[in-house]
Amino acid sequence: MKVTRVAVLVSGGGSNLQALIDNQRPKVKLQIAKCSNESLWGKLQNYKISLVISNNPEAYALERAGKAGIETLILTDKKYKNRLEYAKALVKELKKRNIDAVCLAGFMLILHPYFVRNFKNRVLNIHPALLPRFGGEGMYGHHVHEAVLKSGVKESGCTVHFVDEGCDTGPIILQKKVRVRKGDTPDTLAKRVLKYEHIAYPQALKLFASGKLKIKGKKAKIEK
Ligand code: GAR
Repeated sequence: MKVTRVAVLVSGGGSNLQALIDNQRPKVKLQIAKCSNESLWGKLQNYKISLVISNNPEAYALERAGKAGIETLILTDKKYKNRLEYAKALVKELKKRNIDAVCLAGFMLILHPYFVRNFKNRVLNIHPALLPRFGGEGMYGHHVHEAVLKSGVKESGCTVHFVDEGCDTGPIILQKKVRVRKGDTPDTLAKRVLKYEHIAYPQALKLFASGKLKIKGKKAKIEK
């Protein structure tokens, strides 16, 4: 099996990055496989986090990557004259390293369509709500949970989706639901949703890397 080389784009804490790192290799029989036979161990892996790029030099995610021995790169958008130039710089770095897929994990910039076209159907994102509701420009981090609570819905959750040229509009890969509880604050809800994000993102990436995801129109289907 070919291992999918993944770059993760981050801006902050990177707990989703950590979940992707921790699940690169199966946990079952983890030690046995690792110690006894490295090539078998390799066969059990279908994706590898090969690069982490942050637009924010202070992001804790960079430390997480460093601890895991993953190459890091800081590319601040402010150094580029517009979003297109920034997207071009990102694409150049990714292509240089033969990256197959890109995961946005708390990456707080909207990418120029140039980027999406260069990695068509190969960019994934995690969003802390059940899309298509509570998505779009301005809907990130706590703003999302505030809007969910304000709306009075009984359920929230997270969505992993392909990134298209819109904002949070690409084909949905999978979603996890959580109950909204009486007395929830944006913080308590965010914490509950985040636990599910850490399950959903590696699961979606494994599906992608195993070639089981097919995009048909606006939908992502899992082939058995
Ligand atoms: C996560 O909750 C992620 O879903 C959200 O930012 C947080 C990043 O946390 N992303 C968005 O809101 C994008 N629209 P992390 O840095 O600990 O992974």
